[in-house]
Amino acid sequence: MSVQLHHIDFEDFFMYGTRSLGASFGAEVVDFQLSGTPLEADITAIRELWAEHKLLLFRNQSFDEAALVGFSRQFGDLEIHVREEYLSREHPEILYVSNIERDGRRIGILSDSEVGWHYDQIYLPKPAVGSLLMADTLPPEGGNTEFADMCAAWEALPEATREKLDGCLANQSYEAFNQAYSVPTNNKQKARSPDIHHPIVRTHPVTQRKALYLCPGMTTEIVGWDREESAEMLAFLFDWTTKPEFVYSHAWRPGDALMWDNACTMHRRDPFDPAHARLMKRTTILPPAELAVPF
Ligand code: OGA
Ligand code: MN
Repeated sequence: MSVQLHHIDFEDFFMYGTRSLGASFGAEVVDFQLSGTPLEADITAIRELWAEHKLLLFRNQSFDEAALVGFSRQFGDLEIHVREEYLSREHPEILYVSNIERDGRRIGILSDSEVGWHYDQIYLPKPAVGSLLMADTLPPEGGNTEFADMCAAWEALPEATREKLDGCLANQSYEAFNQAYSVPTNNKQKARSPDIHHPIVRTHPVTQRKALYLCPGMTTEIVGWDREESAEMLAFLFDWTTKPEFVYSHAWRPGDALMWDNACTMHRRDPFDPAHARLMKRTTILPPAELAVPF
């Protein structure tokens, strides 16, 4: 893997090194601790790097839950996830993603559904703008998290396909996803997430770049298209967006934290041996309230 170092100047006195992750997108922010009190300039710089690279990696982090919440909050209000049973007791802004059991119950959300490619909350009217995921306990192998660059996937499509898709809406169904992966949901969860239509190509609110906005499992049809044509196009796009040239696979190390842009990347988790424990801690950044339509 080639490693490049770029140095970016912000307001003369401010500088971070970033290192390529070896994919078409994503960057490691070198020597930055998420704990401590960040300066406003730090946050502005991280915001810009986040928009530019879509995925940021912070290695060797030594921060606790309070610091994860404190840092995440700099980028927007944080979601309290609907799965209350999987939230941190002390910090309900943190969702545990885990197979660990304590006192006879799972402490975190974890199902085969995360193994499927998805955008978080694509089925909501105003999906989260991004997430931070921090490694707490890792299995010895497996459990990589993969990301797909949906801007690059859009831009590389043949022009005729882009013309056909631009302006179309697609149906997003959380229920279809849960059924596909046999995830039980209760009525409260169902009522919160009926099917919804979103543009199949969304324009990023910060960079104004277009990205394909669809994922296998949740995107069930292109609205107004002939059923077969829609199924054929979606099958093609699911294959297309997950081609190796658009994908970065993250092999976690202890102390890693990833911050992704949920408007232009989708993600999935690799399976791992369930005999081993895995615990990830996630915060979810909500869109600004003043953003009436996030597309
Ligand atoms: C998530 C998710 C994948 C992972 O937290 O939204 O999909 O690798 N996690 O745990
Ligand atoms: Mn996810």
